[in-house]
Amino acid sequence: MSSAFQLQGVTCKFGDLVAVDEVSLSIDKGERVAFIGPSGSGKTTLIRLLNTMLVPNEGKLTALGEPVASLGVKSLRQLRSRIATMPQHLGLVDNLTSIQNIVLGRGGSRNTLRSVRDLLLPSDRDAAEIHALLDRVGIEDKLYHTVSRLSGGQKQRVAIARALFQNPEALLADEPVSAVDPARARDTVKLLTELSDELGFTLCVSLHHLELAREFFPRLVGLRAGKVVFDGAPESLTETELEALYELSAEEMMTDA
Ligand SMILES: Nc1ncnc2c1ncn2[C@@H]1O[C@H](COP(=O)(O)OP(=O)(O)O)[C@@H](O)[C@H]1O
Ligand SMILES: [Mg+2]
Repeated sequence: MSSAFQLQGVTCKFGDLVAVDEVSLSIDKGERVAFIGPSGSGKTTLIRLLNTMLVPNEGKLTALGEPVASLGVKSLRQLRSRIATMPQHLGLVDNLTSIQNIVLGRGGSRNTLRSVRDLLLPSDRDAAEIHALLDRVGIEDKLYHTVSRLSGGQKQRVAIARALFQNPEALLADEPVSAVDPARARDTVKLLTELSDELGFTLCVSLHHLELAREFFPRLVGLRAGKVVFDGAPESLTETELEALYELSAEEMMTDA
């Protein structure tokens, strides 16, 4: 099987701080992977490397078959249009409607004038497609609702529909279920995994809900201080490994105190 993402010795630094530390990882097309690990372990940075918003300081990254470091502006834009990201806190514009937010999701691959026109007056074809997407995610009656009036779970569904409207080959979701109750969180993660099966896209999600990661993802990648400390099936994650993943080291206790 060909890989969706391939990292070889990838390091990403912010000044002196090493956020992702010599990570080597291969994620197959269509695979479902959850990134787990404590706050600050590098999950968000890893997702931003995969969607090419960050460039490795060292190492090699291939995304959807493209060597990211050697791409020009145009090829990079094309590559980005094939990868949808649900950023942490979803990145929706609160005072626009669901349909407007979803139209914006494809903005990157259209010129500005066309984006503005689509936003004010979506084509019948776009509107029909978006209606079908909202139907699939269970909120077809919210097409013309302002996002600020939606519940947390409904907002997550708008964000999912927005990502799907891009027709992505890979979907990266950074903590997609923070800020909702556990039942709602489970529904959303379940929906994401069902959609990845149905539509065949690669799904990478960072999750601090370990139980959800274990239930819905056949592969967990555990990060700690920017390094991969676990990579395997949830069944093979031992209590000892979990403790090592989440327990504070003496050094971290000193700095967190
Ligand atoms: N833009 C940034 N500038 C400086 N430091 C950053 C930036 N983004 C992340 N970091 C640092 O990189 C480390 C990893 O952060 P992050 O990838 O956000 O971890 P996680 O998502 O697992 O909480 C943290 O120490 C964080 O403070
Ligand atoms: Mg994060």
